[in-house]
Amino acid sequence: MFKALLIETEKTQGTLKELSEDELPEGEVTVAVEYSTINYKDGLAISGRPGVVREYPMVPGIDLAGTVEASDSPNWKPGDKVTVNGWELGETRFGGLAQKARVKAEHLTAIPEKFSTYEASAIGTAGYTAMLCVMALEEHGIKKGDEVLVTGAAGGVGSVATAVLSKLGYEVTTSSGRADTEGDYLKQLGATNIIDRAEIAGPPKGPMGKARWQGCVDAVGGDTLATVLTQIKMHGAVAACGLADSPTLNTSVIPFILRAVTLVGINCVYEAPERRELAWKRLAEDLNPDLLKEMSQTVGLEESIGVAEQILEGKVRGRVVVDVNN
Ligand SMILES: NC(=O)c1ccc[n+]([C@@H]2O[C@H](COP(=O)([O-])OP(=O)(O)OC[C@H]3O[C@@H](n4cnc5c(N)ncnc54)[C@H](OP(=O)(O)O)[C@@H]3O)[C@@H](O)[C@H]2O)c1
Repeated sequence: MFKALLIETEKTQGTLKELSEDELPEGEVTVAVEYSTINYKDGLAISGRPGVVREYPMVPGIDLAGTVEASDSPNWKPGDKVTVNGWELGETRFGGLAQKARVKAEHLTAIPEKFSTYEASAIGTAGYTAMLCVMALEEHGIKKGDEVLVTGAAGGVGSVATAVLSKLGYEVTTSSGRADTEGDYLKQLGATNIIDRAEIAGPPKGPMGKARWQGCVDAVGGDTLATVLTQIKMHGAVAACGLADSPTLNTSVIPFILRAVTLVGINCVYEAPERRELAWKRLAEDLNPDLLKEMSQTVGLEESIGVAEQILEGKVRGRVVVDVNN
């Protein structure tokens, strides 16, 4: 038997239960989970909101990090340190908020040697997504020294994006609704400039605004994204990964046709294994692991239920690691 959070039916919250290994789904690899994390999507799932969990009962947790316990795959052996991000974990497959998980071999990524399982979780799905956003900006010509904007900066994606972009030598402006309380934190991550999110909360004042940023990592969506698009410089790009404000985007084609702006969509859930490996390799190179201590707090499995509401209210700073054995 092992401990897990379980969401039993639609609209019910996650509760702590004991499960047996027989209840785990099919898969080649059994993982002794050490840590999972609370991402925005986990907040929705655990609190019984719609849109994330598609099968019941479900163990939530869109990511996990731990050690391979048993494997029928030649690619993984007991003792390997692994992580899973996405692949419908906590949506259609039992997720990481449990002491054990059974997963498909192709869904595992090796944790880079530089990181412990704890550090891999402090990065987690939010941090891996932040790296995918940075890679997308680079692939669209944004380069060292350019001015870039990170929205939702004090959240999980925003914190890691800020830390990586500043280490890479970009001039990072962070937008936050908590600029007054989290300003020092964002500066510690490397932000050179901090703006109040109200400044870009939109709707846009017109089809084109003053060109301010060469690139943007946007975790917020809605009118913020619409406004940011009007402020991107010639040949700039926005990596859009989130909807912390809204999924609705009311914009015009003007930024695309007059400033050749690119809007790049990011979906971490189904990224190919090779790109995941690359993102994790890049995180090992381009993220200062010392900053993970600043960015993360640790809670126990049962405590994570309370954090679900906090993340939906935008009250969580950085990342929340869940020690599933506590
Ligand atoms: N596409 C993908 O593959 C992918 C992967 C991971 C995450 N996501 C999405 O990315 C977003 C961020 O995820 P996360 O885990 O970093 O969540 P998070 O830790 O809750 O961060 C979101 C941040 O957005 C800001 N925010 C919250 N409500 C807002 C509002 N109404 N208007 C403007 N800003 C608001 C807050 O930052 P400030 O207080 O600093 O303003 C908050 O901390 C979520 O929408 C999540 O679903 C997508």
